[in-house]
Parts: sequence; C-alpha cells; structure tokens
Amino acid sequence: MIHDNGTSNQSGNRSFQDVLQARLSRRNVLARGAALSATGFLAALAGNKALVQGAVAATTQLADTPVGSGSGTAIAQSGSLINFPIVPAAEGSGPVPNISSDYQYDVLIPWGTPLQPGGPEYTGNPNSRPTAAQQTQQVGIGHDGMWLFPIGMGNDHGVLAINHEFGTNPHVLGKAAPESLEDVRLSQHAHGVSVVEVKKVSGKWQVVASNKSRRIHVNTPVTYSGPVANSKLLKTAANDPFLGTVNNCASGYTPWGTYLTCEENFNGYFGATGEWTPTEAQARYGFSANGFGYGWQNFDERFDLSNPDYANEENRFGWVVEIDPMDASQTPVKRTALGRIKHENAELVVGRGGRAVVYMGDDERFDYIYKFVSESNWRSMRARGISPLDRGKLYVAKFNDDGTGSWLELTMTNPALKARFADQAEMLTYVRIAGDVVGATKMDRPEWITTGPDGDVYCALTNNSRRQVADAANPVAPNPDGHIIKWRDSNQFTGTTFTWDIFVLARDTHGADDERTFSSPDGLWADPDGRLFIETDGGQQKGLNDQMLVADGANSDEIRRMFTGVTGCEVTGLTVTPDRKTMFINLQHPGDGDPALTNFPAPVDGVTIPRDATIVITKKDGGIVGS
Ligand code: FEO
Ligand code: CA
Ligand code: CA
Repeated sequence: MIHDNGTSNQSGNRSFQDVLQARLSRRNVLARGAALSATGFLAALAGNKALVQGAVAATTQLADTPVGSGSGTAIAQSGSLINFPIVPAAEGSGPVPNISSDYQYDVLIPWGTPLQPGGPEYTGNPNSRPTAAQQTQQVGIGHDGMWLFPIGMGNDHGVLAINHEFGTNPHVLGKAAPESLEDVRLSQHAHGVSVVEVKKVSGKWQVVASNKSRRIHVNTPVTYSGPVANSKLLKTAANDPFLGTVNNCASGYTPWGTYLTCEENFNGYFGATGEWTPTEAQARYGFSANGFGYGWQNFDERFDLSNPDYANEENRFGWVVEIDPMDASQTPVKRTALGRIKHENAELVVGRGGRAVVYMGDDERFDYIYKFVSESNWRSMRARGISPLDRGKLYVAKFNDDGTGSWLELTMTNPALKARFADQAEMLTYVRIAGDVVGATKMDRPEWITTGPDGDVYCALTNNSRRQVADAANPVAPNPDGHIIKWRDSNQFTGTTFTWDIFVLARDTHGADDERTFSSPDGLWADPDGRLFIETDGGQQKGLNDQMLVADGANSDEIRRMFTGVTGCEVTGLTVTPDRKTMFINLQHPGDGDPALTNFPAPVDGVTIPRDATIVITKKDGGIVGS
C-alpha cells in the first residue's frame, strides 16, 4: 500500500530466496528436530501464550477473580480445530463485509467515535470534517494492531488500546496536501493510539465513560528509556521536547499489563523544504525529500529534514513504545533496547528463566527479523525497578540452508560492530546497518510474528515484488503473494539457534478449485489451541477483498476463510476476550477512503466517507471464535 515502495537494503547479505531454494528440498528437518525435543521442553512451552495473557488478566483484574479464566487451556482433541463454513470466494467482494454463516459481526469505534460518550463525533460527512482539536477527542483513523486489557473477568468489559497507523491526506483532509498548520495537526491527531474503555451493554459493545481513555498522537509528550535515552542522537539544536508516536502499525502486550505500540513507516512523514542530501543512515531508513506525500514538513519544521535545527528529530521515531492502558497520566515510553527499525509488531513470550523474549519484524523488502531477550527474570527485574525491556540482548536472524538458523547477537563486543559504531546507542539507532554488518538474512517483508502453544514461532512474509532471483521450483522470485515461515528456538525461546520450515506458500493456495486462496499474509495470531489466524493486506485472487482466514497450525492444508472485508480495505489487528468467545479485528482504509467504492460502516449511499473501524466477531452458538 502506501508504504510499499522502498528497498533501502543495499548490503550484500544473502537473500532468504537463496536459502529457501536449498531449504525446500529438506523440509523434514524441522519435524525431526521437533521429535528430538524433550517432552518436558514442550510441556513447558504449552500454554506459554496463555500464561502471558493470564498474567495480563491478573494485573488488570480485580484481586478476587481467577487468573486467565478460561483463556489458556490448550484443548486436546482429535478432530479438526476449525469446522466453520467458509465464506465462498464468490461472496467475498463488494462494499460490505461477509462472514462465515456460523458467525456474526458488529461494528465498534469507527474513526471519529468520541472517546467519551457525548464528545464530538465524526460520522463521515464529506463536507464537515473534524477540526484538529476535535480529533484529539476522537478515535483516530488507520485502525491496526490492538489489545484488549480486561476489566473484571474481561469477557464483557475492558480497555482497548488500538493503533492508528495511517490515513492519507485525501481520506483525512479531503485533499491531496495540507494547506495550513491546522490541516497538518488534523492529520497528526488522526495518527497514533487510542486507549478507550469498552463494555458490552445489552448485548452490544460500546464506548463507556472512563478516566482511562485517552488519545496519544504525534504531539503527545513521550519519553525514552534504555541505552539510547541519553544519546546525542536524540538531541536537536532546537532542543524541542520529546513528542509523539507515528505510523503505529502492529502491537504487543506484556505480562505486566502494558501495551506495546510499534512505529513502522515513520520515514514517510518527513520531507525536505530546502537543500538536503540524505546521510547513509537516513538512506538506509528510506528518508526522501517528499516522504509519502503527507507534506507535514511544509507547516511543521519538526518534520523538515533540511532544517538544521531539527537534525536528529527523525531518530526519535522507529521504536517500540510502551503504554499503560490503565493509567491515562502515564507518559508513553520508547524502549530503545529493542532497536530502531520499521517495526511491525512485538510478540512477547516468557522464555527460560522467566525472561521476556520479544520477536520483531522489520517490514521492508529485504529487511530482517529480530529477537530481544531480557537480562533476567521479568518479575525480578521489575521488583528491582528495572524494565525488562531496557536491559537485555538484541539479536538478528540468519536462516541457514539446512533448516537451522542462528540468532546473531548485536553487541559492541563484536569487532565488526565496534568498528562501525561509536557506541551501543548509535548501533541501536541504526540497527538495520548492524544487521547488514553481521550478515542477517534478507527477508520478504517481515510482518506480524506470533507464537503457537507448542513453541513454534510464525512470521508472515507478506510479499516482495522486487526479488529478482527466479527459480521454477519456488514461487518466490518475484514473490507477489508471500508466505508464512515458522521456526522453533532452542532453550525455550532464549537460545541462539533454531530450526525452521515454511508453513505455507500463499501461491500454493491459488488452485482453480482451492477455496483456501489468499495472498499477502500480514496479521497473524496463534490461539492457545493451535489455530493460526491469518489476515491479509492486498492483491487477493478471485476478486476477493482482503480477508481473515484460520489455519490449523499443525496442517496448512486446513485453512478456512472466516471473514472478508470491504472493497479497498485491509484486514488487520486482532484481540480476544479472555474466554475467546469475542474477537476484535480491524478494517483499515475501507475503499481507500473513496465513497464511490464503499461507505462502510454507513449503508451504501455513494457519499459518506468510509471509516476505518473495529469488527466484533462472535459465534452464533456462543463458541470459541475460530472453532
Ligand atoms: Fe503496517 Fe507492515 O504493516
Ligand atoms: Ca501490517
Ligand atoms: Ca502489509
């Protein structure tokens, strides 16, 4: 979509394509590796995801309620994990969503919804857009990653933290470029994050009055923690305060009850009003004189790359940001130990010794997959007043031909990195270059990463139209449809080696009679039973709109289409209530903002501006969503 134009990795690192060629002839290696795993290891992993989610519930629930009630028990069953009727491809297009006949959906918090009942509302009138000030009191646009933090049992009440990744100028402003600072502020306030308290009232989820609800956007005070916090690379001559988060793509959550929002295509919001030549680092991160055309630099000097007073401003973006969804007075913290990349999501699991392990993809063609492992047990670190996300080791992935791989530590004790960077802060700020130096494997746009109950880690590699090395045996050069890779780490997520395999090549689902068809996997979430939810972003076959499918994690031949979005939208973001009987997903950029294509969530009228929104999914028989 708007952010899919760059290729900034000019390093000579070996492409994943090359590795994949060799790999696919040896596809049984991972299976053998799994067979060698100790039973105790697998048992320790089972339910890890549930433990994390349970801990969130424990942090946020009333003290007398059970921990993780019902969320995490992996179900031992012999039948298929997924039994619902699919949405036939023939019915998966048009201006309104479609859902499996076993399911039903409702719409929650479209762009412009008041954060507090009775606040200013925007409902899609093309002639009366919100003011910049009103937008700070409303749900933003570009709904993406999110997580529901339970209140009480959480099955009908919680705080939803939700990302607002992007909204184009035509969609938000109704014109191609801003004409005033007010226009820029409206655009900026439509980006960021919403924290909004929601509750099921008379069978319908809705926004309720709350002292927890807040908007975080491009002009909200933030702070920095970890190795880069005091670096000169975050300082500007203007000495302007630390403000804002932008292009909040996918997300994560921690066992201590916080939300992680991940800054992705931050480069696109900067531009140059005067003479400017990119530095090596700026080029590696894809900065350009016009950015993605937002035009903020024309009215807000923070985003002007040619203004020397704001040199380094761009280093303040590209981080994972931690938000306390239960405390509206908390200042969002950018966790610099996790590195500065175009972050997709941050999948946190608890590994050996209680360490917090965070998997992260850098979504650009030929960029890398990263892993952070906290210094020690997350509980003991927090007890000592140290964030587990501030101290630890950062690694980048290298996939070997034989189905093995290694996590290459990004440390200043590596002579090659010491020769390239002045200090750890510089290395983390330009960590893409560190990945180049150590020889990480170039991937086909790493998007969401999720962990299954058996310890498998999945990553969506959405597509790569610019991969040039073709091989008839593998549909990956160019790779317009993408694939999903999975790996299993040694030492309960904390080790430096892994085994890996391809879960599915999207191309393999494109047979004439194959109703599994999908392209460009993006959002992923594995549930505690081993279902893998797959959300897509662009280029579907058979005229399909973007969609959500459910795969059996043990068998990629078993993939079913549960939901299709509206014309021009992307399906992204996913969270569930603790009982998993309610699922929330997002429709992003419906109709790409064009009311001639769809007016969602309004009825079709050809006029009303379509609005990004959350979809609430329940099973008609009250069962777990995905079953
Ligand atoms: Fe924001 Fe890579 O998707
Ligand atoms: Ca995405
Ligand atoms: Ca995408």
